[in-house]
Amino acid sequence: MADVEGNAKLEGKVAFITGVARGQGRAHAVRLAREGADIVGVDLAGPLPGVPYESPTPEDLRETAALVEAEGKRALLRQGDVRDLDGLKALASEAVSQFGGLDVVVANAGICIPATWDESTPEIFRDHIDINVTGVWNTVMATAPHLVTRGGGSIVLISSYAGKKMQPFMVHYTTSKHAITGMTRAFAAELGAHDIRVNSVHPGAVDSPMGSGDMRTRIEQTNGANPRLAPMGTPFLNEYSASTDQIADAVAFLVSDQASFITAEHLSVDGGAQYF
Ligand SMILES: NC(=O)c1ccc[n+]([C@@H]2O[C@H](COP(=O)([O-])OP(=O)(O)OC[C@H]3O[C@@H](n4cnc5c(N)ncnc54)[C@H](O)[C@@H]3O)[C@@H](O)[C@H]2O)c1
Repeated sequence: MADVEGNAKLEGKVAFITGVARGQGRAHAVRLAREGADIVGVDLAGPLPGVPYESPTPEDLRETAALVEAEGKRALLRQGDVRDLDGLKALASEAVSQFGGLDVVVANAGICIPATWDESTPEIFRDHIDINVTGVWNTVMATAPHLVTRGGGSIVLISSYAGKKMQPFMVHYTTSKHAITGMTRAFAAELGAHDIRVNSVHPGAVDSPMGSGDMRTRIEQTNGANPRLAPMGTPFLNEYSASTDQIADAVAFLVSDQASFITAEHLSVDGGAQYF
């Protein structure tokens, strides 16, 4: 997308995105490519641990690459795991040698399993922390040194309304997403000296494949455990959920020069649900 002078906002920049095979990650890839960025990305693109929704495939990852290329930008997308710090570092280095550097990071990969507090298991808790928290830390640790080398940049960590308020029947998910809110402030404080901005985005419900398969049935089942808590994600606006493009709009704003003095901020895109 061009500004009033006809310049694409991210021309010549390189964006590193996790969870890029589908859903919000794909929307960020296509949107940032449209703004002019080349895209580096990683996704498990295979079975996700314990989730009640469909897992993504390598074909999904190839489709994201094709969509980025259709925007006229380069796509370096790999199957990989955000729990693998060495793998992320290797991909970041490869991107730097191919594209010349990194400017933007979107730590978006995550999982979400509905389970009441007493049905939850050590595996469910561990997987949320390993992927949604350590995976985000790994993503920043693998990429931030390259932003330092570039002399600045922008990092967006994808949290949730569960990272500001809470999401019922998801102690594990709420814990992981609150950790991202704190991680955003803490990285922003130290990376500010390198002119690197770090912000978080907090979607409410989003229309993505995370809602596929048995996800809605499981949410209804867990809501049955205490119906008083069920409406906590209700927005003030009439639409219940955001499109993936609406979340990409927020990310595109935060990584643009229009947000050049915004850091350590936690931007909700939830129709007001955080205050319901
Ligand atoms: N869908 C929603 O309603 C919603 C609401 C708030 C926040 N979020 C958050 O937004 C982010 C994106 O979710 P989405 O809605 O696009 O869901 P999604 O399941 O469609 O996409 C998530 C992607 O992350 C990838 N991923 C998961 N674990 C990974 C790992 N270990 N290594 C690499 N990739 C991995 C998945 O393969 C998948 O492609 C997540 O962090 C999620 O928690 C989603």
